[in-house]
Amino acid sequence: MAEQLASDPFHGFGGSSQPPVPENVAIIMDGNGRWAQSRGLPRTQGHRKGVEAVRAAVRAAGELGIKTLTLFSFSSENWSRPAEEVNEIMGLLKIFIRRDLADLHKEGVRVSIIGARDNIPEDIKPLLEEAENLTRNNTSTRLVIAFNYGSRDEIVRATQKIAARVASGEVRAQDVDQDMISASLDTAEWADPDLIIRTSGEQRLSNFLMWQAAYSEFVFLDCLWPDFDKAELQNAIDIYHSRDRRYGGVKVAKAGA
Ligand code: IPE
Ligand code: IPE
Ligand code: MG
Repeated sequence: MAEQLASDPFHGFGGSSQPPVPENVAIIMDGNGRWAQSRGLPRTQGHRKGVEAVRAAVRAAGELGIKTLTLFSFSSENWSRPAEEVNEIMGLLKIFIRRDLADLHKEGVRVSIIGARDNIPEDIKPLLEEAENLTRNNTSTRLVIAFNYGSRDEIVRATQKIAARVASGEVRAQDVDQDMISASLDTAEWADPDLIIRTSGEQRLSNFLMWQAAYSEFVFLDCLWPDFDKAELQNAIDIYHSRDRRYGGVKVAKAGA
């Protein structure tokens, strides 16, 4: 069933006149392959077109005042794809960083990368470090690229860090708490996503930000990633504004309501 917007666009936000922009938005950029196949093109063409949608999304996020935009670009499971497709995606990532980093820096975008670093191609590692180092002090949108990222892998790595601290006697087992786990994840420096968007009509997380998504709102869009643009982002935000976030509590009725 198509999602119905509440007739009151500020429903869920206490009737305030300005619904807050979701500060932290994460996107599962899905549907590149289907976009290409529906045009009789090789899947790789869909990934190329997808890079243009990445540029549009980053620009739109800045214009809309989103603080943190996390983009799922390659999962720890995507290595199982045909070598030709994996090579194309690696090549596109390199081209994106080489061509777009200077512009992102000029616009004050801070780039951060999440995901495992130990099993990625040697020529990509220094590019990721360069992107993070160059933009470290920027303060406009934070662009988080999830590359070679899997939520279960991230939780395993966080658990190993905490286990090592317990083994060394620095931390007691009974002092391990939610804050320590959050602080041990790749996303330690920024807030959990308010809104998670997935394009292409699929309705699953596919190993993305599972810990961080505990109270995220999910919006599933039918558009394929290469067709994503500012209007699609605005549409997702409008749907987000129709939601009522309760965090396990109950909605407190306003006096006189
Ligand atoms: C998303 O598009 C990009 C990556 C996962 C790297 P897909 O390549 O998954 O496209 P579909 O889902 O096969 O259409
Ligand atoms: C999730 O999409 C990963 C990225 C968007 C990078 P997939 O296309 O890999 O997910 P599944 O296989 O449909 O679950
Ligand atoms: Mg897919």
